[in-house]
Amino acid sequence: MTTSSETPRPGPQQAERTHAAASDDVDVMAISPVREEGMLTESRPADPFDADTEAEARDLAGRYPDSRSALLPMLHLVQSVQGYVSQEGVAFCARQLNLSEAEVSAVVTFYTMYKRKPCGQHLVSVCTNTLCAALGGDAIYERLSKHLGEGGTPLGHEETAGEPGEEGSVTLEHAECLAACDFGPVLQVNYEYFDNQTPEKAVELVNALRRGDKPQPTRGAPLSDFKAVERQLAGFFPEDEDVFRADVDGPSQAVETVRGAQLATDRGWTAPVMPAEAPLPETEAK
Ligand code: FES
Repeated sequence: MTTSSETPRPGPQQAERTHAAASDDVDVMAISPVREEGMLTESRPADPFDADTEAEARDLAGRYPDSRSALLPMLHLVQSVQGYVSQEGVAFCARQLNLSEAEVSAVVTFYTMYKRKPCGQHLVSVCTNTLCAALGGDAIYERLSKHLGEGGTPLGHEETAGEPGEEGSVTLEHAECLAACDFGPVLQVNYEYFDNQTPEKAVELVNALRRGDKPQPTRGAPLSDFKAVERQLAGFFPEDEDVFRADVDGPSQAVETVRGAQLATDRGWTAPVMPAEAPLPETEAK
């Protein structure tokens, strides 16, 4: 036993927390307790990014006065190739933008749109934020999770039914508010909206995706797949821009969206107008 003023003696109880100093002559890989789990590998796999992707990355970097601003679209470009952001993807962006891998990793792990595990052909995002949850979003997520699971084990958040990347594979995730509360409960497939969902409609939808079908979203562009959408998010669009625009340009509001404004018009309600000369309220000096 030691008192607080004594230096703890080495012993069996401290052994588990003893770390070797990483001097030049220590083979850190060989002694790593996580080596077997694949968290560290002796050599990185071959670079999965070809010359075209390198050229597109340079193109992105050149679109900004400060090239580091291209990091967000470049990470989408990486996802369009790999279906997620791998450690090689992190290294690729760092190299292109003259950043450290730690800086790139900090961004990747901050935003939920960057996936750390390979995604399915389709990403199904179910809004389980307050309004949608109350309207049935939680029930939709639970039903899909059970439906897509195997052997009685529900599919977990960001897990994939099927082999990631292969046709018909589906990754399921919880999503925060998808900015379509007027159509709740909603879900998205590859960020395209499917409004006013029910558990039954959602199951039909994922069954269609698993068969290789691409049901028409409620609005917006036709359904493609996760990697194709990631390419657009990176800022690369189909060559025939007119066709592309015709797909995505369209009414973005519905009766539900403008119901409040319509009620106000019908009833003659207006917002109070501030007189031009009205003094600003006093505020306490800080
Ligand atoms: S709470 Fe679901 S879209 Fe806003």
